[in-house]
Amino acid sequence: MLDVVVLVSGGGTNLQAVMDAVDEGRITNARIAGVISNNPNAYALERARKKGIANCCISPKMFETREEFNEKFLEAVDEMEPDLIVLAGFLVVIPPVMIRKYRNQIINIHPSLIPSFCGKGYYGLKVHEAALERGVKVTGATVHFVDEGTDTGPIILQKAVEIRQEDTPEALQRRVMEQAEWKILPQAVDLIANGKIKVVDNQVRFL
Ligand code: GAR
Repeated sequence: MLDVVVLVSGGGTNLQAVMDAVDEGRITNARIAGVISNNPNAYALERARKKGIANCCISPKMFETREEFNEKFLEAVDEMEPDLIVLAGFLVVIPPVMIRKYRNQIINIHPSLIPSFCGKGYYGLKVHEAALERGVKVTGATVHFVDEGTDTGPIILQKAVEIRQEDTPEALQRRVMEQAEWKILPQAVDLIANGKIKVVDNQVRFL
């Protein structure tokens, strides 16, 4: 049984999608061991509480230095003894020491088709604003392993979503979530939980 820890900062709809998939048997061999937020007001924490899932809040704002935060953050994650860490709209940079410790055990959902509209500064609504600004006709979402770069790790799953002429960033964000994110994030967790994925030469191979 894979113990999954989900890191969140906001509404937690992706966390909800993973919780629902566990309940409905679309994710097998996994359970959510805990939820950690950097934002005390994140609705994601409420979603965890409602489910009786262990949860806590730890934010850089609670510490004098980033080093101190990084240390306590790693301790909080370690305490939950995760086999897999899921970044579900988590907006804090993962400390390099945590990436090394949990190599190929951290995955992230990003709301575009990487390598488009990703990297530093591309998060949340900004990604969809950039896609509309550029006038692309197709966007989507990507689940990838987390390495030392920003959105640079091995890609696990991607799903395309068509852009409509009348789209606003908010409408597009919602459709990318519904049609792509809430599907491929649970799928990726299920693949990992069932040993169906291996990273070879920095690329994901399906077994
Ligand atoms: C999601 O759209 C996720 O892809 C995005 O934040 C949103 C969180 O929503 N993540 C990033 O932009 C990471 N670079 P949620 O809290 O409702 O799951």
